Amino acid sequence: MASAAPVIQDWDGAAGAKWVVHQARLDRMLAPLGDAAMAAAAVEQGNHILDVGCGAGTTSIALAERTGGAGHVLGLDISPDLIAAARRASRGLPQLDFLLGDAAKAELSPASFDLLFSRFGVMFFHDPVAAFGQMRRALRLGGRLTFVCWRDPRSNAWIRLPLRAIDGLVDLPPTDPLAPGPFAFANAARTETILRQAGFADISITPHDFQLPYGSGADDAAAVDDAMSMALTIGPLARAIALVGDDIRNKAEAALRNILRERVCDGSIYFDSAAWIVTARSV
Ligand SMILES: C[S@@+](CC[C@H](N)C(=O)[O-])C[C@H]1O[C@@H](n2cnc3c(N)ncnc32)[C@H](O)[C@@H]1O
Repeated sequence: MASAAPVIQDWDGAAGAKWVVHQARLDRMLAPLGDAAMAAAAVEQGNHILDVGCGAGTTSIALAERTGGAGHVLGLDISPDLIAAARRASRGLPQLDFLLGDAAKAELSPASFDLLFSRFGVMFFHDPVAAFGQMRRALRLGGRLTFVCWRDPRSNAWIRLPLRAIDGLVDLPPTDPLAPGPFAFANAARTETILRQAGFADISITPHDFQLPYGSGADDAAAVDDAMSMALTIGPLARAIALVGDDIRNKAEAALRNILRERVCDGSIYFDSAAWIVTARSV
């Protein structure tokens, strides 16, 4: 059996560049989850908002439209490629700016935001207490934190099922469930402790289940091809087979195609997803 490369998401490098390529599709997948978080954030006209790990800026634009000309949104991201894409997409909204930087270290004006928002952009900090503490200082007293993050991988078929394609073919290195990565906040009790230690209170962590659109096309075969291109470019399967030889890659691709064929229906493939909507206040 081949051994997989360690699972590292270099957001300031290749991972960010790949996210740009698939951004339209990722936006379609994640939009309802971001909308649920935005509803929980209860954005008001005139709010000053920090969009943490804003990626290609889709949520920053939506937040800027909600807060209007009297408010302001700063989209902050560590990926130069994603910040460049966000600036291209920003439609010249005067209340919207983007900043390239590490949210754990960025020098933000103290007490200058009403809301810290994030759609899947806060799970990658090496020291989450320090990072959330740093961001909390940029929030005015009583200001809100709202983000959406993933629950555990077993409840998220979009990661579990594609990884089945390498069962018996690739030996995955053991993963530390607390390490920075998409599932770092899967444990709600740990997330609550991190946020308390970082100076937040009124913490609410609510499950949100959703059927994630993973692939689509004019017919079932096209939908499978669409989902294949996604799974082989972004995510844990893509990372796991990045360094294996052609023989194993071909077997993994054939297994993946079978898994997707079992799921496809009427030109669409949906996977179960399980997220947390987290809200809190700075104290
Ligand atoms: C899963 S993507 C989500 C992107 C975007 N929020 C969206 O929903 O389309 C995670 C984002 O967090 C950003 N990110 C990761 N670590 C970061 C850090 N320390 N500071 C700022 N951004 C970070 C990545 O560059 C990436 O854009």
